Amino acid sequence: MPQMKHTKQLRMRLRLEPNQTLETIVSHTVPIKISTKSETHMMTTRQLKVEPLPGATFGAVITGIDLTNLSSAMWADIEAAFNEHGMLIFPAQYLAADAQAIFAKRFGSLEGAGPKRADGARSISNRRPDRTALTERDPTWLTLSYPTRHWHMDGTFNPVPPKICMLSAVSIPSRGGQTGFADMSAAYDALDQPTRDRIAGLNSYHSNLVGTTRVLPQPNQEDLNTLVGDAPQDGYYGLGYRADAPLRPLVKYHPVTRRPSLFVGRHAFGIPGMSGEESERFLNELETFACRLPRVYEHKWQVGDLIVFDNRRLLHRACPYDEQGETRELLNCRIAGDAQTDAGLATVEAQRSVEVQRAELARLRRRKAS
Ligand SMILES: [Fe+2]
Repeated sequence: MPQMKHTKQLRMRLRLEPNQTLETIVSHTVPIKISTKSETHMMTTRQLKVEPLPGATFGAVITGIDLTNLSSAMWADIEAAFNEHGMLIFPAQYLAADAQAIFAKRFGSLEGAGPKRADGARSISNRRPDRTALTERDPTWLTLSYPTRHWHMDGTFNPVPPKICMLSAVSIPSRGGQTGFADMSAAYDALDQPTRDRIAGLNSYHSNLVGTTRVLPQPNQEDLNTLVGDAPQDGYYGLGYRADAPLRPLVKYHPVTRRPSLFVGRHAFGIPGMSGEESERFLNELETFACRLPRVYEHKWQVGDLIVFDNRRLLHRACPYDEQGETRELLNCRIAGDAQTDAGLATVEAQRSVEVQRAELARLRRRKAS
């Protein structure tokens, strides 16, 4: 190999010995493959620090890292920490949309394409492009802004929901607007055995329209009815509604860790074998039990924060804030799920989803109107 010529100045800056070349320095700084047991020591060496959230069953804060400049060893640390903790918080990253998308793609393919879902980070905001605030009559507020205040997993009403989601803060309100997370693996672990036995073979349908109708305040319901009509059909109003509704188990086994999780949240309804009322009551009981300390964490955003969370394990929700007077803008990326492990069930009951969803929507509307 030909010797590299180095100027005296460069050799001094690199502290090269007379017999050393730049190649020898580089060969000594190749990242070292680490084992799990030596993780703490090696993380200190590379300045990357993983601190589990105190008092919570999940989540960790990662500091000492620049997400736009990761070595393969750093990425291995991040991926391992993600699978263990289910949610990672990276403070003060200040990533632009394209940089966030590049980091997100390390976790897998980004979800969707086309005009509504570009292959990159998309903005979630209470402001329109002309900077005026969305009102409660706006389709995006009705179908996206308000419903996300309730515990949910993203996109479980679609055939294959995203497996991982990423948010970062561009603008934050002075009060409120936190994002809450809840650990459904720890919730399953905390169930008593009779409840585990009871839910072992149960499934529920998942619908965005049913979930939104259930949680939307009565004064806003007429606007939603006008928007979507009398029967569920495919449409996109800020977030998608579908005529069909996937059937999913109440217990989901994580495809990587194999840990069981409670699969509940705003979109779940209509457990086959139960009446609409029974099913709603039971799912509410499970969710109320699940979303309690130490299984919940509420993140108070700082501009520049980035959070990546496991959509197969955690529920999440947005906290209210002054939507007319303040601005909240987050950048969102979703990593596509795997059809093999994240698709709905293919059973006879699953094929009845269109009529089941229609009946449940009618029941909820009747109840609100009475
Ligand atoms: Fe969400």
